[in-house]
Formats: sequence, structure tokens, C-alpha cells
Amino acid sequence: MTQVVRAAAALADKVEGWKRSGMRVGVVPTMGALHDGHLSLLRTARRHCDRVIVTIFVNPLQFDRADDLEKYPRDEARDLALLEAERADVLFAPGVGDVYPDGFSTRVSVAGISEELEGAFRPGHFDGMTTVVTKILGMAQAGWAFFGEKDWQQLQIVRRLVTDLNLPVRVTGCPTVREPDGLALSSRNARLTPEARRIAPALYQVMQQTAQGLRAGRDPVRELDDARSRLIEEGFASLDYLELRHAETLRPLADPADPARLLAAAWLGGVRLIDNIAI
Ligand code: PAJ
Repeated sequence: MTQVVRAAAALADKVEGWKRSGMRVGVVPTMGALHDGHLSLLRTARRHCDRVIVTIFVNPLQFDRADDLEKYPRDEARDLALLEAERADVLFAPGVGDVYPDGFSTRVSVAGISEELEGAFRPGHFDGMTTVVTKILGMAQAGWAFFGEKDWQQLQIVRRLVTDLNLPVRVTGCPTVREPDGLALSSRNARLTPEARRIAPALYQVMQQTAQGLRAGRDPVRELDDARSRLIEEGFASLDYLELRHAETLRPLADPADPARLLAAAWLGGVRLIDNIAI
């Protein structure tokens, strides 16, 4: 049985009891509209931990566009059924007023890395994310937390946050789950028209070809330019970015020996898709 908990105090009691009996507790923060990507995090958490909390909270602080927040899919009954089937122990689903009561005044901001890439195109997004993640980690008091590589920059920011603030939690990154044609699972994929859905896998395909070229030592400037043109030819409306960056700091690569990641955000039929891939 997956127990639904709404109050932070009730969650704290539960977790304290588990920890007192020596159990490992894991947390998987989400905004709901669960799909196989989220569930893969839960499955990994189950392998590492004795008890797993999945949190669902559509965090208004991290939406840079009001229409995006409004359109965000919400179906708790469906999500709960999926969590039951995957044997999550607790669904923690607080209300907005519980997370941000009157008088709430604190922001958690990770400088530098939060301003790159996604941060440049979605002002305030990462400050909202790091604020809520700090709160979720504080409320759950879990020793392990699980995040997807699908949101690579988010994962690196959370690692930086946990290190910088000495938060007592180990962060585990989990690989991106994809459709058979390569499209990364995302709750936003449901908004693609059939025509856009047919074009969407080109993002990952072009990124894979580009990654191969880069690994073979081809000129990054040319490879990236070619990839950008190819995506537009495939039918993408525009690109916010397609960049090769340092895999951890997300800064432009200074040394070819640095660990590198190829990251992209592209618009297709009014839907913004992001993806990333190791080099
Ligand atoms: P959300 O978009 O719901 O994603 C929750 C977690 O699932 C994140 O760690 C995300 O990287 C992971 N995830 C999403 N799609 C995935 C896929 N295809 N494969 C693997 N993992 C995937 O990310 C957030 O929510 C929020 O920013 C949150 C961290 C909950 C803070 O509000």
C-alpha cells in the first residue's frame, strides 16, 4: 500500500520511525504526471533503499510562464495507481499553502551554473527549483535522493547545492528513459501533434550523430552548426541552444580533456523539448 501523506509533520514522524529501526530511506522528487522515466527513478530507489517516498508537488516558483504552470497535467489518482503498482511506500503530496505558507521569504540560489543554458532561457526557473528541492530534502529527511539525467543541468545544480550546504543526503543520477524511437520521455510529449511527434525523435538522432563526430575529433564549431541546421531542416521551429559544455559546471569547454556533455533545447509545434547526451 502506498500511503498518501500531505503534512510535513506526519512525514517527519514516519521517516523518524523508519530510520530508528535502521532502514534506509530514499526520496524521489517529482511534479507528478508520472511516466516510465519517473518510475525508473523509483525502481532504482527501491534497489538502494528499504523505504521510498515519492513527492508530487507542482512547484509554482519554478515556472517562468504562467500558461505552462496552468497547462501542467495533474492527475493524482492516476499517479497514485502507478505508485501502488511500483510499491512506493509513501506519496508525499503537500498543498501549495503547506509548502509556501504566508510569510515564506527564503530563496535558495546556486550561482553560476544556474545562469547557463536553461537558466538563460528560463529566468528564475532554477532558483525556484533549488528552493523547493531544499525544502523537499528538509521535509523528507531521506539519506538518498534520486534525480534523472534527462534534466542534466538540474542534476548538476542539485549536486552543487547538496555539497555547498552540506545537506545530509546522497544524490543518485539515473539514466534518461526513452521511447523506442529515442525521444526522451517527458510529460510535455503529450502536447505534441501527431506530425510533431513524428519529427521529435530527430532531436536525439541528430545529437547522437553530432556526439559521434565530436568523439571522432571533428571540429566542434562546425559539427554544432551542422546539427543546428539539420534540426531546422527536420522541422523544428527554433533552437534555444545546442551546446557542448563541461559536464559538471556546464561552462563552455576550456580543455578538450574535460568531461563533456552535449545539451539542447528546441521548439517544435509550440512545445519545448530538452535533451542531453554524454560525449
Ligand atoms: P519532474 O519534471 O516531474 O521530474 C522528476 C524527476 O524525474 C527529475 O529528476 C527528472 O529528471 C526525472 N525524469 C523526467 N523524465 C525522465 C526521463 N525520461 N528519464 C529519466 N528521468 C526522468 O524535475 C522536476 O520534476 C522538478 O524540477 C523537481 C526536481 C521535482 C523540483 O520541483
